[in-house]
Amino acid sequence: MSRREILEIGHPVLRERAREVTRDELRSDRVQRLIDDMIETMRAAHGAGLAANQVGATLRIAVVEVTEGNPRYPYKAPIPLTVIVNPAIEPLDDETARINEGCLSVPNLRGEVPRHLRVSLRYFDRQGVEHEELRSGLTAGTFQHEVDHLDGTLFVDRVADPRTLATWAEFERFHREAFLARAAGIVQRFGS
Ligand code: NI
Repeated sequence: MSRREILEIGHPVLRERAREVTRDELRSDRVQRLIDDMIETMRAAHGAGLAANQVGATLRIAVVEVTEGNPRYPYKAPIPLTVIVNPAIEPLDDETARINEGCLSVPNLRGEVPRHLRVSLRYFDRQGVEHEELRSGLTAGTFQHEVDHLDGTLFVDRVADPRTLATWAEFERFHREAFLARAAGIVQRFGS
């Protein structure tokens, strides 16, 4: 396993739609190694998720994991390591919440993004087994963020009010408390 360089906003690959992974490709050493490297890269950077195009591979693969006390997102409920291949995500109703997000490809910036609170998520895992799951609360937002990456969309594209943009330091100083109260309400309601 090795860490890969994380591409930053402005790199054209982040704006490409990643393509579907075939079953044969998924079984290949090359793609299995890519998945291992994505996991290591996400963990080293304390991300909540990482999409393949963030490390320059335009394949529809993303990894998500939140452990207790993540330094970037301490308010998120834990999410066990999940590798999603060829994911499809669909909102289950119209309810959204404004969630404050950041991204490893958008250094030192956070902003408020409306996200669906209940989604169905279909994907293949790294062994090629198909899953269909309900994801809710902040966790639903995390998966929407990662699937967006695979379509060439960054969270800044979805920030409804650009005046909510803040550096991480100014978020901590001025916005953290209000957002944490809102986030806690979501986690309490959905357990995620
Ligand atoms: Ni991101």
